[in-house]
Parts: sequence; C-alpha cells; structure tokens
Amino acid sequence: MTDQAPPVYSGPSRVLSGVQPSGALHLGNYLGALVKFTRLQHEMDTFIFVADMHAITVWQDPKLLASQVREIAAAYLASGLDPKKATIFPQSAVPEHAELAWVFNCVARLGWLDRMTQFKDKAGKHKERESVGLYTYPVLQAADILVYKATHVPVGEDQRQHLELTRDIAAKFNHDFEAPAFFPLPEALTEGPGARIMSLRDGAAKMSKSDPSDNSRLNLLDDADTIAQKVRKARTDPDPLPATLEELKDRPEALNLIGIYAALEGRGPAEVLTEFTGQGFGAFKPKLADLAVARLGPVGAEMRRLMADPAEIDRILADGAQRARAAAAPNLAQVKKIVGYWGS
Ligand code: TYM
Repeated sequence: MTDQAPPVYSGPSRVLSGVQPSGALHLGNYLGALVKFTRLQHEMDTFIFVADMHAITVWQDPKLLASQVREIAAAYLASGLDPKKATIFPQSAVPEHAELAWVFNCVARLGWLDRMTQFKDKAGKHKERESVGLYTYPVLQAADILVYKATHVPVGEDQRQHLELTRDIAAKFNHDFEAPAFFPLPEALTEGPGARIMSLRDGAAKMSKSDPSDNSRLNLLDDADTIAQKVRKARTDPDPLPATLEELKDRPEALNLIGIYAALEGRGPAEVLTEFTGQGFGAFKPKLADLAVARLGPVGAEMRRLMADPAEIDRILADGAQRARAAAAPNLAQVKKIVGYWGS
C-alpha cells in the first residue's frame, strides 16, 4: 500500500451542455442554462449541442424534429452564443456520442439507473411501456459529456443527479480499465438564482416544457401580451410581500416570482424583496411583467429573425458538427484501445 493520492485529471477545462428539442423553450431553460452558456463561452472552450438523440426517447414527429433542432439552435444564438467561440451542433451528427454510450452502458450498473428520479417521474406508474432509451438516457448523457472530456457542465438543479451518475461512470471506467485520471470527474455548474424556476401555476412543480398548461411557463417565443397575461394569471396569495425571505418559506408561489424577478435583473432575491416589502401582487406583477417582456422580448424577436433563414442555421450546425467530431474522435479512439476492441 502507498499513501500517494490518486492521480487527478490534468487536461484542459472544457464546458459542455445541451438542451432537448422536445417542446417550447421557456424561462427556466433560459435562466438555468442558456444565460450560463453565453457567459462561459468567454471563459473556457465551450461545446453546446442540441440533444435530438435524447428527444427521441419519447415520441417525436419525424416531420418536425429537424425544425425543432433549428429552433433550439436559434435560441442559443439569440441568447448570445457566438458560433466562432462556442461549438454548436446537433448531437445526432456526432456518432461518437452513441459509440461511447454503448461502452458506458457496460460500465454503469442497473442499480445506479434504478435510482434516477427523472426516469421515475417521467415513466410514472407504467415504466414497462417506456422506451429502453428513456431508461438508459443518463448513460448517453454521461457519454455526451465525457466524449469531449468536459470538466464543467452548466445545467439547472434538475440535472444534478445525472451529473453525479456521470462522475460515477467516469470513476468506474478509470478504475476498471486501470486508466487513472483518463476521464475527468465533471462538475455541475448549477449555482445562480435561475437554477430552479418553478411553474407559474404551482410553486411545488418545476417550470417544464411538458406541463400540459401553457400558462405554467413563459416561453421564449411568447409575445409581450402573452407574457403579461401569464404573469397576471400566475398563482399567488392575498398577503402583501414580507421583509425577509424566511417569511416566504411557506409561500412557494410568491418566493418563485421574487426569484424570477431577481434572476431576470441579476440581483439577489433578498434585495428585490426589500424593494417590494409591504406591497401586494397587484403592484408587483405589472413590474415583473414589464421586466420579463424587456428581457425575453428581444430574445424571441431574434429567434424569429434567425428561424426565417434555416439555411444559415444549418450552416452553423454543420460547421459545429465537424468541429465537435474532430474533438471527440481522438478521445473515442483512445477509449477503444483501452477497452481492447479489435483493430484499435
Ligand atoms: P432539458 O432539455 O430538460 O433542459 C435544458 C436545460 O434547462 C434546465 N432547466 C431548468 N433550469 C431551471 N429551472 C427550470 N424549471 C428548468 N427546466 C429545465 C435543465 O436543467 C437543463 O440544463 N438531460 C438534459 C439534456 C442533456 C444534457 C446532456 C445536459 C443531454 N445530455 C449533457 C448537459 C450535459 C435535459 O433534458 O435538459
């Protein structure tokens, strides 16, 4: 036995994240993910993809899928991702993700996947009717990240468990194949006021693309009137706003609206609360609506402008796919060698 510390990954820092093209993008995606991508592209080598392979784990209309991919790409660009800085690409255009996912399917344990709460939430009582892909989805997510040896993964709070699984898979691969520190143990970047935006109709449920009520979310493509109307209709309570966040702990809807206001303004929620202490929602909501329209309106307008030229979006995606493949291929080649595949 030696008392040497295990070797630590020493490769370059790299950011990777993605969004599924499986429904309208909303404020939660924007604050929990897109805004962070845009900031990080100035700090590290950044890879941002559209997770179309994840999207087909539940039914997607084949006639619409490619345009849904372009819509997410348009949202990335509209929120400030620069294709010269960040590599923006569709997941399915880089087959290395799927190849590494198979190796990881053989590394991850059934017991690990059985613990994934997102699968349980999505499958509900009828898990035997779900696709096998939905079950192994977090393994593909680990491959998305590790095929680039990414070290930092900006995501909302709901992805934390998938990131822990990614770290477990990386550590087990490194250990089982005696390839110490081959893969990094990537870090989830979930901090920030927009990490968990809740539904406008239910302060206990997260804002989600799959919520059947469109009034539960502010979509990036909503027009100003729709945003104002959804904020006006947001569930609240009759009490005025208190002085401290502590007093909001049993008022989840009120806490969520204060949190949204703070995240949109880039301020802390306590500071926002101080500004509105003693006021009711009749006074607060119009201010929140104006702020949401001011922040989301230009993003939606830019998305529409970009989506009017699908060929330009396709050009950016094809260029990104080429760069992504060039980054992923050598890592996958090393994995094949480590695993001992024929011909590697
Ligand atoms: P997806 O498409 O569900 O969501 C995209 C991003 O938005 C964040 N998000 C939220 N953040 C705050 N509040 C909310 N209400 C909210 N809802 C969603 C998500 O946390 C996510 O960051 N599995 C991923 C896609 C993926 C991925 C990856 C991400 C596939 N492979 C590799 C990172 C790295 C997903 O379904 O995200």
